[in-house]
Amino acid sequence: EAIRIDISKTLNFLSQSEIETYQSSVSKSRQALAQKTGAGNDFLGWLDLPNQIDSAYLEEIKQTAHHLKSISEVVVVVGIGGSYLGAKAVIDALSHHFSHLKIGGQTPLVLYAGQNICADYHADLLEIVNEREYSVVVISKSGTTTEPAIAFRLLKQNLEERYGKEGAKERIVAITDPQGGALRKMATNEGYKTFSIPPDVGGRYSVLTPVGLLPIAIAGFDIEQLVTGAKDMKRLSESTPTLQENPVSLYAVVRNILYKKGKKTEILVNYHPRLQYFAEWWKQLYGESEGKDGKGIFPASVNFTSDLHSMGQWIQDGERTIFETILSVKNTKKRIDIPYDSTNLDKMNYLVGKSLQEVNKQAELGTLLAHVEGGVPNVLIEIPVINEYYIGQLIYFFEKACAISGYILEVNPFDQPGVEAYKNNMFALLGKEGYEKLAEELKAKL
Ligand code: PA5
Repeated sequence: EAIRIDISKTLNFLSQSEIETYQSSVSKSRQALAQKTGAGNDFLGWLDLPNQIDSAYLEEIKQTAHHLKSISEVVVVVGIGGSYLGAKAVIDALSHHFSHLKIGGQTPLVLYAGQNICADYHADLLEIVNEREYSVVVISKSGTTTEPAIAFRLLKQNLEERYGKEGAKERIVAITDPQGGALRKMATNEGYKTFSIPPDVGGRYSVLTPVGLLPIAIAGFDIEQLVTGAKDMKRLSESTPTLQENPVSLYAVVRNILYKKGKKTEILVNYHPRLQYFAEWWKQLYGESEGKDGKGIFPASVNFTSDLHSMGQWIQDGERTIFETILSVKNTKKRIDIPYDSTNLDKMNYLVGKSLQEVNKQAELGTLLAHVEGGVPNVLIEIPVINEYYIGQLIYFFEKACAISGYILEVNPFDQPGVEAYKNNMFALLGKEGYEKLAEELKAKL
């Protein structure tokens, strides 16, 4: 079974014949990807990743995960952006909602560092790891990113003080460029176990490299199934040339048509709290890939039904510049039925015998109809259940659709020149060597 896309609730806003006009643009984009002739063609390594990851490589990742698990109650994953969100998205999607409170669990708790520079966050983290056995996976493709570099400096010193230099070495794994960058140099000097990030895979497309796979394996999930899901979606997306039948191309086209019609914001909707970070991963993927040259859909997300009680009013009735993409889940893993209550003071007895998932589903359908009626096109993307296999499918689905969508929009979906501006200002304000002139200019502005 594959994930399913349903665009019928966009058809009040666009027509099938409009979709058809994109057939040649989609074919060109697909060709540019397959033949590596489009913009950013030196960053297409992610396209073939699912087929390139062999079982020996997965075994090496699993062995390393096993080693860290055997000596740790907590594993801290250090990274930011593309070196953080993929692992967090998948681990959250698959984990027990209260895994941090489960007693007697076999797997270490995965915590994160270096995804912000907040002093309180990192001080609290150090307090927690100091009460437990822990190890660190440090991830940075460039090896020079400020946030994870600061966090790793703190954790490395802490580990060395606690376990000694040799002991710390056993507890640190570095994932970085195969050759360049400060982290590769440090890992070589210190003798850390390392994994490489292929140079032709950009951060936001790297979840199916050790960047995502090692933390996911540490958290106890089946990375083979994740890769199989991605592999199956790769095959499906390549073997279906007809636009209407290819979910990947169809999603890319529909969002571009809606964008052209003034729907400038896409809201990814979920009804399951464990998908919140999947939306964060998606936001980076689409925001960083398409938001450039003065163009690009603004990717937003909401968690329903929670946010129906906060953002629901705006979505139903606010400026009509949005569309929604619902990440729909057919079945939950566990079932809970609504119990009978003899007093029925809350008037909920009409729901007795229904499962929570049934109620959640009707909330989803009711909301969908209300929002479409209110002028918000809705795309539906449905998976049968949240597991490694379908998350793998979704990852590849969104990555490939993002690349095609970016080419349709005529941007380079694989660069991110805009993220340098804040870095330069920060370096200048912090007094980094070489930034003296910029520092003066900035201080004059302040
Ligand atoms: O997608 C990207 O390129 C960014 O989000 C990077 O992943 C992020 O800045 C972290 O970079 P690095 O892995 O080099 O530390």
